[in-house]
Amino acid sequence: MSSPNPARVDWTVAPGGKPSGVVRVPGDKSISHRSIMLGALAEGVTEVSGFLDGADCLSTMHAFEAMGVHIERLSETGLRVHGAGLQGLRPPSQPLDLGNSGTSMRLISGLMAAQAFPSTLTGDASLSRRPMQRVIEPLSRMGARIEAIDGRAPLRIHPVSRLRAIDHVSSVASAQVKSCILLAGLYAQGRTEVREPETSRDHTERMLRAFGVNVETGPGVAALNGGQRLIGTRIPVPADISSAAFFLLAAAIVPGSELLLQDVGINPTRTGVVDILRQMGAVIEMLNPRTFGGEPVCDLRVRGQALRGIRIEPGQVASAIDEFPAIFIAAACAQGETRVTGAEELRVKESDRIAAMVDGLCRLGIEALATPDGAIIQGGRIGGAEIDSHGDHRIAMAFAMAGLRATAPIRILDCANVGTSFPGFGRTAVRAVGLGLES
Ligand code: S3P
Repeated sequence: MSSPNPARVDWTVAPGGKPSGVVRVPGDKSISHRSIMLGALAEGVTEVSGFLDGADCLSTMHAFEAMGVHIERLSETGLRVHGAGLQGLRPPSQPLDLGNSGTSMRLISGLMAAQAFPSTLTGDASLSRRPMQRVIEPLSRMGARIEAIDGRAPLRIHPVSRLRAIDHVSSVASAQVKSCILLAGLYAQGRTEVREPETSRDHTERMLRAFGVNVETGPGVAALNGGQRLIGTRIPVPADISSAAFFLLAAAIVPGSELLLQDVGINPTRTGVVDILRQMGAVIEMLNPRTFGGEPVCDLRVRGQALRGIRIEPGQVASAIDEFPAIFIAAACAQGETRVTGAEELRVKESDRIAAMVDGLCRLGIEALATPDGAIIQGGRIGGAEIDSHGDHRIAMAFAMAGLRATAPIRILDCANVGTSFPGFGRTAVRAVGLGLES
């Protein structure tokens, strides 16, 4: 098995466009990863619908197939996972290559730490730069034996006979850290608890419950007892609010436009982008609320109006953590200044998103200043330029939408990784937003 090594893709986006109509963006990435992982650990069959057929989730799928889990593809977005049970994973014959996917590496490391066989987790250049000490340290306290290079992948995980439960106080609000420890905690003796400064996305806790596991949760805390069995279930995956965010942005920055986004997951740990765009003046309605397997879902209707600059406080960051590339573009299109603080985690995502966004905005003629934990952006006139996405899917999609308000073409380099989270983004953007995007 090897990392997808997509051919290089650059985009040119012509200025202008008019968002209108109805869009169903692909399935939620976080929930899709977890549907494979928990389905694999369960007893019996798990049927997944609305699965995200993107490179990151396929990395997770291939990793579990390499450990003997039988996964049937019923359609592009439909899967049947034949659970192996908590003790049923088999030693992979090669390192597990997790491509660009931080979620795969951090969550799978928690599971591998508890197995009776050794494993090695690798990833692409971006993933190999990302901090793994935040999972290695707590897993080591649980008794795991993990070797890394300067706290980074590749991770070599040695078998141990038993993990012990811990109480972990995380210095960052990170669902990847929390989920890693909870998954390891399934194999530990006793009660494993994770505390974090803000509540990060809670898909693991919700989905564990759907598989019959008792999980205790409160603000900033989640805990479970080891030894609980998972029972196969049905997982309908909502549309990903992090992908919908680019279309919320598109309509929000073009006054007079309107889009309807269908079946979007609105788990309260993920809806920060809706609050922030509303605070800037966008009109966003949540229509037809319902639930998909324990996850709240609705249709989002967004209408464009003139936006104003705002202050985004540290307490608003966790629930919008993946949406800051889109929010930075909204800030560039708003009247006045937007300040973001408490967002230093953006520096260790698929790229340093503070540096990549501020650099790109400055090239487009926007006054933007990077700070250690955020940015100060003055709304203004967006010109044309060549932008480096640094191989980061969300940087590429955010600057593509900036084309709607640009006065000249924007060329965006290194966009192939858009397929990690949003296969078909270009086609959808051309159809629903009228974006003049060519690759
Ligand atoms: C994710 C958690 C977030 C997010 C990432 C997906 C998850 O990372 O940025 O895209 O699925 O658990 P952190 O938990 O490290 O902030």
